[in-house]
Amino acid sequence: MPALLHLDSSASPLDRSVSRRLTARFALAWQARHPDADYRHRDLAADPVPLVGAGYASLGIRVERRAAPVPLPDVHTLATTPDEQHEWSLTHPLITELHAADTLLLGVPMYNFTVPAALKAWIDRITFPGAHTGRLTATRVVVVTARGGGYGPGTPREPFDFQTPYLRAWFTEHLGIPDAHLSFVHAELTRAADIPALTPYRALATTSLDSARTTLTTLAGA
Ligand SMILES: Cc1cc2nc3c(=O)[nH]c(=O)nc-3n(C[C@H](O)[C@H](O)[C@H](O)COP(=O)(O)O)c2cc1C
Repeated sequence: MPALLHLDSSASPLDRSVSRRLTARFALAWQARHPDADYRHRDLAADPVPLVGAGYASLGIRVERRAAPVPLPDVHTLATTPDEQHEWSLTHPLITELHAADTLLLGVPMYNFTVPAALKAWIDRITFPGAHTGRLTATRVVVVTARGGGYGPGTPREPFDFQTPYLRAWFTEHLGIPDAHLSFVHAELTRAADIPALTPYRALATTSLDSARTTLTTLAGA
C-alpha cells in the first residue's frame, strides 16, 4: 500500500509559511489519488526531534566497529548504558517511520543558506550507521524549498544554495536513494512582497510560486 511521510520544518505556521502551504498542496493531491493509503505528518518545528547525544554517538561507533552489519531489530542488544538505550529509543521509531514510507515529502525553508536546524536534527538522528542499507532504493523524495531570495541557475546567489547540493548528497550517498528518485521544487523570492529591496523581483516571485504549485500537483499525480 502506498505510504506518504510528510515532514515540515518551517518555524512559521501554515498561514505564514510558503513551504508548509506547498507541501500541504502536494499532500492533499496525493491523498486524493491514494484515499486508502497511509499518510503521516510530522512537524519538526512544533515537535522537535532531540539533538543526538553522547549515547547516540557511542552506540553508533560500536555498531560501525562490528565486522558484520547489525540488523536494525538487533541494535538495541548492543546498547550497554541507559543513555545509549534512551538514545536508541528516540531513534529507532523515526527510522522505522521512514522505512514504512514509499514517498517522502520535505518542506524546507532556507535558513542562512541551508536547511533549518529542526530538519538537521531529524537528519542526524535517522542517519544511524547501517540503518538504511538497501532499504530505500525504491523511495521517492519530493523536496519543497522556500527562499526569501533567488538562488536559481545563473543568479549571483546560485553558489550560496547549500540546501540543494547538501540534500542531494545526503539522500544519494548516505541514504542510498537513487538521484532519479529525487525531485526538488523551489519557491524563490518569497520575501519580494515585503522587503523593499526585493520589490523589482515580485513578478519573478509570482512566477516561481505558480511554477512550484503546478509542479507539485503534477508530481502528486505521478
Ligand atoms: C532564521 C531565518 C533565516 C533565513 N535565512 C535566509 C537566507 O539565508 N536566504 C534567504 O534567501 N532567505 C532566508 N530567510 C527567509 C526564508 O527563507 C523565507 O522567508 C522562506 O519563505 C521561509 O520559508 P517558509 O515561508 O516556509 O517559512 C530566512 C528566514 C529566517 C526566519
